[in-house]
Amino acid sequence: MWKVVSVYCAVLAGIRAAPADISFAPINEFALQLLENTYAFQENFDKKNIAISPLSVWSIFSLLAEGSAGETFLELMKGLRLPRDLRTTQAMHRAVNGQLKSSKEDVFLKQQSAMFTDCSLEVHPDFCEAATTYSTEIYSVDPSNTTKLANDINLYVCLATEGLITNAVTPDLLQDLRMILVDALYFKASWTYQFDPSQTKETSFYNIQGKNIGSVNMMYQKAPHNIAFPDQIEAQVLEMTYGKNGQYSMMILLPFNGVPIKRVLKNLASQSMDWISELRDSGSGTDVDCFIPRFKLSTRQDLMTPLQYSGIVSIFDSKKAQLPGVSDSPLYVSKTIQNVEIEVTEEGTTAASSTVVGLENRILGQRFEANREFVFLIMERSSNVILFAGVYGEPSLV
Ligand SMILES: *[C@@H]1O[C@H](CO)[C@@H](O)[C@H](O)[C@H]1NC(C)=O
Repeated sequence: MWKVVSVYCAVLAGIRAAPADISFAPINEFALQLLENTYAFQENFDKKNIAISPLSVWSIFSLLAEGSAGETFLELMKGLRLPRDLRTTQAMHRAVNGQLKSSKEDVFLKQQSAMFTDCSLEVHPDFCEAATTYSTEIYSVDPSNTTKLANDINLYVCLATEGLITNAVTPDLLQDLRMILVDALYFKASWTYQFDPSQTKETSFYNIQGKNIGSVNMMYQKAPHNIAFPDQIEAQVLEMTYGKNGQYSMMILLPFNGVPIKRVLKNLASQSMDWISELRDSGSGTDVDCFIPRFKLSTRQDLMTPLQYSGIVSIFDSKKAQLPGVSDSPLYVSKTIQNVEIEVTEEGTTAASSTVVGLENRILGQRFEANREFVFLIMERSSNVILFAGVYGEPSLV
């Protein structure tokens, strides 16, 4: 389960060398909270592998915060840990964009964002300007042709992720949307100390009870890495760097024996991040015997519920969302679809994500689409006597 944490950390480590006057700590607080909430949500479906790209979510929703008002604004400020004035947020954005770029041969990182809007939607100039400040490209489209729109978005994401994500959205996900915000992140890096493929061996993988639940291709190396055992996190932490200059790294957090992954996630979300500087100060330079499985994750999920767990609620509510600064049409966010692809090998890591946030009109005609399990009752109307009743849950073509 520690796999999860690594995705986040690839990004985290990249933003450590920040300009002195801007703190990125709020973004990481948001990220760790979202990770905890995403795990809690996915647990309901018995999903054990999760991967998120929290920075993209933070970027898109902090842009929307600029166009929000009332409760929607207050929830976004609190949930995203935004500073009180928007200028500081914009400065944070620019600093992140400036920081998160690398086109070296051994570390390649890029982030791209775009806004696709209904050409008949009057987007406020201030909002367009804010989007431009955040280096968001603006495209005017006809959203009623969802097939074409899906193709346009998928092409954008495919190019932005060097072909790693080819199918970010399907036309059915874009029904009724009037504005779509897209953020794509691509990362490819070689380990500072690469693993020797001839040392990789198939070994068992266990659950918390120590039960063998399958096998992995376990890679091995002995190399100088930072390692620490922060009690407040209740996990053993290893940091493996990328590239010659080690500006990026992956952290792997392995819970202490018997500690559930959930508790480690809770610790990460609730404790200060001092454990990182402790790790770097005390753990450096020792040769460590490292066994890390080769792995690949591919996920697509709607992050709406995890964001609601984080206190961002009314923006998703068709009755309550307040986004007057975006356009005069009353909009709300109906989708937050994130795809993540990550592969860890002997050589290094490739990871990509696409985040697609869709906004719908709040005042649409009522919609009723019985496209999932439903109950039916046949009744006489003056007496309300039920004549037939049933459930339809297994589709067939009759
Ligand atoms: C949607 O766009 C595609 C590609 O441009 C086009 O071939 C198709 O006819 C359009 N569909 C509708 C319903 O307009």
